[in-house]
Amino acid sequence: MKTNRNLFLAVLAAVLTACGGPRPASTVGTTPEVERRVDQLLAKMTLAEKIGQMNQISAGGDPANYAEAVRGGQVGSILNEVDPVRLNEFQRIAVEESRLGIPLLVGRDVIHGFHTVFPIPLGLAATFDPALVEEGARIAALEATAQGIRWTFSPMLDIARDPRWGRMAEGSGEDTWLDARMGEAMVRGYQGTQWDTTSMAACIKHFVGYGAAEGGRDYNSTFLTERQLRNIYLPPFEAAVKAGALTLMTSFNDNDGVPSTGNRFVVKDILRDEWGFDGLVVTDWNSMGEMISHGFGSDRKEVAQQAIEAGVDMDMMTYGYISHLEELVRSGAVKESAINAAVRNILRIKVMLGLFEHPYVDAAAAGAVQYAPEHLDAARRSAEESAVLLKNDGTLPLDAGRVRTILVTGPMADAPHDQLGTWAFDGQKEHTVTPLAALRERFPGRVVYVPGLVNSRQKRDRFDDVVAAARQADVILAFLGEEAILSGEAHSLADLNLKGSQSELLAALKATGKPVVATVMAGRPLTIERDLPNCGALLYAFHPGTMGGPALANLIFGDVTPSGKTPVTFLRTVGQVPMYYSHNMTGRPYQGEMLLDDIEAEAGQTSLGNTSYYLDYGAYPLFPFGFGLSYTRFTYSDPALDGTTYARDGVIRASCTLSNTGGCEGTEVVQVYVRDLVGSLTRPLKELKHFERVTLQAGESCRLEIEIPVSELAFWGLDGTKKVEPGDFQLWISGDSASGEALSFSVR
Ligand code: BGC
Repeated sequence: MKTNRNLFLAVLAAVLTACGGPRPASTVGTTPEVERRVDQLLAKMTLAEKIGQMNQISAGGDPANYAEAVRGGQVGSILNEVDPVRLNEFQRIAVEESRLGIPLLVGRDVIHGFHTVFPIPLGLAATFDPALVEEGARIAALEATAQGIRWTFSPMLDIARDPRWGRMAEGSGEDTWLDARMGEAMVRGYQGTQWDTTSMAACIKHFVGYGAAEGGRDYNSTFLTERQLRNIYLPPFEAAVKAGALTLMTSFNDNDGVPSTGNRFVVKDILRDEWGFDGLVVTDWNSMGEMISHGFGSDRKEVAQQAIEAGVDMDMMTYGYISHLEELVRSGAVKESAINAAVRNILRIKVMLGLFEHPYVDAAAAGAVQYAPEHLDAARRSAEESAVLLKNDGTLPLDAGRVRTILVTGPMADAPHDQLGTWAFDGQKEHTVTPLAALRERFPGRVVYVPGLVNSRQKRDRFDDVVAAARQADVILAFLGEEAILSGEAHSLADLNLKGSQSELLAALKATGKPVVATVMAGRPLTIERDLPNCGALLYAFHPGTMGGPALANLIFGDVTPSGKTPVTFLRTVGQVPMYYSHNMTGRPYQGEMLLDDIEAEAGQTSLGNTSYYLDYGAYPLFPFGFGLSYTRFTYSDPALDGTTYARDGVIRASCTLSNTGGCEGTEVVQVYVRDLVGSLTRPLKELKHFERVTLQAGESCRLEIEIPVSELAFWGLDGTKKVEPGDFQLWISGDSASGEALSFSVR
């Protein structure tokens, strides 16, 4: 851990040298000066040099291996190299040895932190704290840009409603509104509020619908209608474009038969023409080439043509553009104007990032920025806010003065790599503080560690060693879950129960009669219903990152009160997939009818309910979206609206009294949901329209005043336009998506 503050501040001051003025607000925020420079450069470029800019390659290792291609102007961007010395050498070849001296745009998957790893994005979403998420993204940018990385392939804005899909870990969960707010925060954080050498271009991905993979199997087809796209999947992208995202990545999936990288409708018509996006569009890794595997094109030449015609500027790792575009232009199949447009989008970003003025980094100083104390502090706070308390019978918080011997057990108690989660390429084990390490430091000589299981998949019949230790302990802290490798890209699962013998371990611990606290670290909401009876309290920590250990120790021992809320519905069983709070109103909503278990009691019963539910699992999830407990209690009272009828351009002012009626300070995530009772289309049961974190002392109350512009109620209706449809609505101010008192209003 680097603690040299002065050195850190000196480096920070050096890298903060501004290359441009404050950023104008529109699209990517280009200026006439930027455009003039782009035009000048473009005028000097040969067709081959232009196409070279459109080529991105994975170029880790010795720059000499790529020198010829870079020098020859055949590469516009590289990814997968992070060493600042080698990156400087890459840039030197580009800037000093290529004909036009155009610097490389260096990309990297900096997804939830660079060296200092923050909780996985799903955990960050559980904070419902965009300001903190922005701070984390800024820190990621400071660390990554210090080493020469100026482009991250984040944030992932894919709505995910199927926890079998391992990539749910990388996004903000099931909700469009929450996803949009988190996406905007990350864009602001990565790119900064003005362009300077710490600005790291954000890449919003994967455009679009990728999270709806059929069966939750990664890379699988999606079948989203235009209306679903426009009402659910596209808004986070549009919000991030408005927030100034510089780049966007097309997705691997085909939607209704059209792979995204060749999808003119979404890329050209919506992104470019409707939204006016003038940033850079890059393919996903070989997603151009995979259009051949999809059977959408027969060879690389054909798919290259499909991609350029769709409006894709840069080819990541298919070598389709570099191999075939020149020939396609020469034959007249592709117009050179299409190439010019793409190259403009690429050069614009390079100019805006100040790469021409600052292609190099101070490699010797880069290390001092990594793991700075304030970075670790922000990572710890993020991990604290991201943990969701799902059950507590009063076991938590523990009183450090009363528990002498603490048994720490479970496969995630001391798994430094695994607690970092998916996409933590640059997070280092040696800098990661596990719960075991944090607890040992805090309670020297009082922690007994018996792992019980070496990993989450291990099977054991007996746990004699753990049980013997448990009998000697005052409290049992079990750290369960799934390793990083079980979630993330390509890591889908069909069974979402705790793997191996983890549930049996918890049951054996419970049988000792000692207090049991379970902490689950995972990349998705696992189906933990069967485990809840076997613990007094359960904290869901997702994968909490570098500072997960201290954060969890603070939560467990009550220095910090849990405030996270579920960013996704927690299911009772995987068979309930997809289940999400904002589903459309059905014609036969569940009325509390009989379940299978009741049938035997009522022999001869032939007619069960005629509504929408499962005979064996009912209609409800284990925990609804937006749910999370605290060590204190919050009550909502006297909800009110400032009117009964609003104009379409009006503002709804909702208010309510929030009281902390428990025994300690706490933070509540206040949520506002709206239901549009009648629409030109069936409307969602509820939709989140606002949230905020409110901190109150024990016994304190406050009157919340919340403004919701009526325009937020707009949706794409039957006539294919987006507008607020007049009619009756309901609104809830509540602590989760399943509670609260409905207020009624109408829009005229
Ligand atoms: C992923 C992208 C990622 C890219 C580059 C792909 O496999 O889908 O999200 O940014 O690789 O590493």
